[in-house]
Amino acid sequence: MAIDMELEEVLRAPEVPQAKYPPKVITLANSKKMVVREVQREDVPVLLKAVRPTINVERDYYDIVGVRLYAELLGWYRYRVRNEYCLIGQVDGYLVGIVNGRMLNEKIGISLHTLAIDRGLRVGSHLFASKMEHHIEYLGQEEVRIVAESPIGFRRWMIEYGLELLPDVQHELGGATAYRLTKQIYYDTKPRLVVGKRPVPKTLLDEAMQEIKIADEKTITEKIAGVKGR
Ligand SMILES: CC(C)(COP(=O)(O)OP(=O)(O)OC[C@H]1O[C@@H](n2cnc3c(N)ncnc32)[C@H](O)[C@@H]1OP(=O)(O)O)[C@@H](O)C(=O)NCCC(=O)NCCS
Repeated sequence: MAIDMELEEVLRAPEVPQAKYPPKVITLANSKKMVVREVQREDVPVLLKAVRPTINVERDYYDIVGVRLYAELLGWYRYRVRNEYCLIGQVDGYLVGIVNGRMLNEKIGISLHTLAIDRGLRVGSHLFASKMEHHIEYLGQEEVRIVAESPIGFRRWMIEYGLELLPDVQHELGGATAYRLTKQIYYDTKPRLVVGKRPVPKTLLDEAMQEIKIADEKTITEKIAGVKGR
């Protein structure tokens, strides 16, 4: 596709350089090792293959979360979202979950989405915790604004972290009721909720970096709709 670069410069969302998230490894309840790492814009087309099947699953609100996540990742890929980042979880090289967010400004972070493909292992919870870790410890932010789009999300974020209600703020995800994780809430909950070890052993990291493996569409659908993975 031919791009008019002069106009493209105007259309592109401005970005600031962002601190990188150092990879870590989490031992899941089934003893498998999940590598959590940041991905690059170039990885987006592969991630979209995993998100696409979720759009058709109504159960547990995968459809709305999937379609929004798809748009956000594509927006990042096509330079239409400001200051976005994305972290993934991989087990044996396979993608098991995705989280993304962005910097609204230097101090305020926006939590966008959390999506678990492998279920029953708190993959989503660990990735959400990693996202909070990224905002507060690596991006150096004061607060993260969060919404829940599903009852599971509400239990996992608002209740488990005791997030603070932000009554006068509309979150950018459709203006839904916003909550925030402050630095204080993060450090109070960190010993209970934020886990993982660094550095990641070389063989594990090499395996993860070599290829983001994606299960086929049928397997992903079965996993998230509850047929597999229990
Ligand atoms: C919210 C989410 C990220 C949480 O991920 P998670 O921490 O790994 O949790 P799981 O999805 O495995 O499990 C959530 C609950 O559903 C149950 N569950 C549903 N399907 C399951 C399955 N196939 N296997 C095992 N447990 C399942 C679990 O028992 C668990 O119950 P609990 O809360 O009593 O522990 C994940 O459920 C998800 O991606 N949901 C769809 C998108 C979404 O809602 N995102 C958050 C938006 S705010």
